[in-house]
Amino acid sequence: MRLLLIGAPGAGKGTQAVRIAEHFGLTHLSSGDLLRSHMRAETDIGRSVKSYIETGDLVPDAIVMDMLRKPVVQASAEGGYILDGFPRTVDQAHAAYLVARELQVQVQIAVHLKVSQDELIRRLTARGRGAEDTPEIVKHRLEVYASKTVPLLGYYLERERLVSIDGAQSADKVGDDLIAALTEARDRLHLDAANA
Ligand code: AP5
Ligand code: MG
Repeated sequence: MRLLLIGAPGAGKGTQAVRIAEHFGLTHLSSGDLLRSHMRAETDIGRSVKSYIETGDLVPDAIVMDMLRKPVVQASAEGGYILDGFPRTVDQAHAAYLVARELQVQVQIAVHLKVSQDELIRRLTARGRGAEDTPEIVKHRLEVYASKTVPLLGYYLERERLVSIDGAQSADKVGDDLIAALTEARDRLHLDAANA
């Protein structure tokens, strides 16, 4: 299975990706976690992305694509992945599609975790992950999500690959809903492939 998890900052992508990865035997790949570990290790990538992360802007597509290519190919060979926080723009989605086609692994399900703005702000300011979670930067991250990432939902909806889940429920209930919806979508897509 190759899953993409889309949701606003604080929607619960990381929380849910861990559970989905465990349930379906997938590798969890979080673009944000990978970028932050580059920053901690002070790699070239880490140094070049620091200012974007701290201001809440998106890191340039090329850096993210280069960083993810190897782990995605490896996870794909090892039973699949759940990508948390990637793609984040229509351009990234298109690039990911081209890589998947190259690898002959078309089946992808995009999951949208839906949470209201008030709840997102409440969760992020309560968590406080450094400069990223200060009120001003949270506000900016939510604006970036609305302008750059929300159009992705239309991209996947058009391709009949979008599963939407109410992410405002308890984390356990969101996880149960996700597993049920993904099991259903996986079976449906396998059936489609068999009929093609
Ligand atoms: P990234 O790390 O992806 O951050 P984000 O999208 O802002 O989201 P978060 O990780 O903050 O939230 P989450 O949805 O994972 O929620 P979580 O489970 O932690 O990206 C960071 C930065 O990296 C970006 O700003 C950008 O600069 C860069 N970047 C990353 N990917 C990129 C890409 N593809 N292209 C370009 N740039 C990129 O939960 C949040 C909190 O809520 C936690 O405290 C949690 O315990 C709590 N919580 C979770 N679920 C629930 C629930 N159901 N009920 C109550 N509380 C809950
Ligand atoms: Mg996260």
